[in-house]
Order: sequence, then structure tokens, then C-alpha cells
Amino acid sequence: RSVDSALRRRGASSGSRLFSSESAPERKVAILGAAGGIGQPLSLLMKLNPLVSNLALYDIAGTPGVAADVSHINTRALVAGFAGEEELGKALEGSDVVIIPAGVPRKPGMTRDDLFNINAGIVKSLCTAIAKYCPNALVNMISNPVNSTVPIASEVFKKAGTYDEKKLFGVTTLDVVRAKTFYAGKAKVPVAEVNVPVVGGHAGITILPLFSQATPATNALSEEDIKALTKRTQDGGTEVVEAKAGKGSATLSMAYAGAIFADACLKGLNGVPDIVECSFVQSSVTELPFFASKVRLGKNGVEEVLGLGSLTDFEKAGLESLKPELKASIEKGIKFAKEN
Ligand code: NAI
Repeated sequence: RSVDSALRRRGASSGSRLFSSESAPERKVAILGAAGGIGQPLSLLMKLNPLVSNLALYDIAGTPGVAADVSHINTRALVAGFAGEEELGKALEGSDVVIIPAGVPRKPGMTRDDLFNINAGIVKSLCTAIAKYCPNALVNMISNPVNSTVPIASEVFKKAGTYDEKKLFGVTTLDVVRAKTFYAGKAKVPVAEVNVPVVGGHAGITILPLFSQATPATNALSEEDIKALTKRTQDGGTEVVEAKAGKGSATLSMAYAGAIFADACLKGLNGVPDIVECSFVQSSVTELPFFASKVRLGKNGVEEVLGLGSLTDFEKAGLESLKPELKASIEKGIKFAKEN
């Protein structure tokens, strides 16, 4: 309640999109699934982001506690918790960015596609609410299988008449984060300087890191090294699932990656130039309707979907072999949304 009244006071006194004491415009971010393994650290990281003025934390349960806890941190964002479907509308209203880490994670032996039956329905209902309460928000989809949940979201928005392909993103940033870390370790270059594009999708072989375009460039890596780095990036999620031995999948590194991507979206919205991140978006880079590649972010979301650049024979082969699986996952998502 005190958070609510603080929100009202702030709303009443600011009166415009700009705070007198803050140079950044007001931006509301909603996290759906905020009480979960990813949701909690992601809530923390978004509370630390000075671009966020309002942070709405939604889950089916548990969010009042997370919100009360995070709200005591002395940073700009005003935090409010929302629990249960009847509060979803209030959580979403006025959001500029909605981040979705809601749904079940993998256990050892499971693929991301094994999550489809549960998570597809969750994503569908959350996106139906987004179409109703904040149809203009940028949507950052974390819930797996991303290769299917993004197409589901697009169909839900199409049905509602609110679909804008510039505003729907599958979050593949963790693949980039992993590729950077593993490359830096192997090439012995400072990790903070490393960049590696990762294209395709977000599951197994559909994750295609383009180490030939990694910077700083190195000739210290053999073909075998590149193959091993590629495989480790593709299996990074499984590495964590196995190490956690039944207690879930990546949460802390995913929260970090989700926070990086949301920050890029906010910077784009605020007009900061040259914000480029990899993301799984509607695309004409290949013949597939959705594909992850570098994307330039701007005031309306996707400003430009960038091409793949030149690929090595190894990367070309990886691209061709990922297409059938990615195509099937996209079609599975679209079929689900059309039939349910
Ligand atoms: P978790 O089980 O710890 O948390 C999920 C949260 O979602 C729970 O708090 C649960 O109450 C909530 N939830 C369930 N149904 C909901 C609904 N209808 N509305 C709102 N909230 C709902 O799971 P964790 O580890 O946080 O993972 C979440 C998702 O993120 C999983 O699908 C996982 O596979 C995915 N993931 C995606 C990654 C990526 O790179 N895109 C990386 C790691 C995980």
C-alpha cells in the first residue's frame, strides 16, 4: 500500500514524462514470473537500472514479498508487486517493456521442447493480457522453448489485432553471454572486450555462434577449438541443468542476460543510437519467419534486422542443419496458437 501511494505521489508531482531530478524519461517495466528463479534476480537487476522509473513484479503468487524486499533498495524505480490473475491488468498497464520469465524450467534429461505443453499455455494467456493492457509494449520473451513461444506470442497478438513485429523479441542474450565467456577463456583475450554474434534460435543446434566474427579477432584458435566452443555454447544450458541436478536451469546468468537485453531495449526507446543486440525476431534474413541475428534497437523497438555477414564453411553447415529443427519449432508454436 505504501508503494502504491508513493507511486501516486510521484505520478501527481511529476506531471510529465521527465522527472526534474532525473534526466531519463519515465519507463515502466513489468516482469511476469517475477517470483521465480530467474524472476527474482532479474527484479533485483532491473531495480538497479536507472532507466527504470516503475517496476511491476507479477507472478501467480509470492510477488508481494519479492516486491517489498526489492523496494527497499535506494534506487530510482518505484516497485509494486502483483499476485494472481486478477492483478495482471494493473501490473501491465502503462508498461514500456514486459519481460516474461514465467513457466517451468528444465530438469536433467529434458529438452526445451519438453516444456512446450505447460509453457505454451502460460505464454498464450500472458500475451492475451498484454494485447489488452499494454499493446504497445516491447515484449522480451524468456520462457522456453523460445523457438516456439515467440511464434505463439505473434499469433496471439495477430488475433488481437495488436501485432507489431518490431516489438516482439525472443531473448537469446544468454547464448551471447556464454559465447563471449567461453571465447575469452579459450582465446585468452579480456572478456570485457569480447563480442560474438549468435544467430539461429535458442535450443541445442539451433544456437549458432559465429566465432569467425568474434572480436577481438584471434588466430590462436584451431578448427577443433572452434568446434568445441560452438558445442559448449549450444550445450551451455544443459551444463547448468546437469550441475543443478534437478533444481532447475540457469537463473542467475539468465537474469544477467535478461537485464542486459531489457537495458538495450530501454536505451533504444530513449533514442540512444547504435544499440545492437542479438535477438530472435520476425526476420527475412533466411527463409524462416523467425530467426535470431543482430538487431538494431530504436524508439519503436526493432529498427533494423541485420544480416549474417560472411560465414565460414563450418558456420554455413551449422546454418543449414539448424533450419529443419527451427522451422518445426516455429510451426509447432503457430499451430498451437491457432488451435487453442
Ligand atoms: P521457476 O520455476 O523458478 O520460475 C518460474 C516462475 O513463473 C514461478 O515463480 C511461477 O510461479 C511463475 N509462473 C508460472 N505460471 C505463471 C503464470 N501463468 N503467470 C505468471 N507467472 C507464472 O523457473 P525459472 O528457472 O525462473 O525459468 C523460467 C523460464 O525461463 C523457463 O521456461 C525456462 O526454461 C526459461 N529459461 C530461458 C532461458 C533463455 O535463455 N531464454 C534461460 C533459462 C531459462
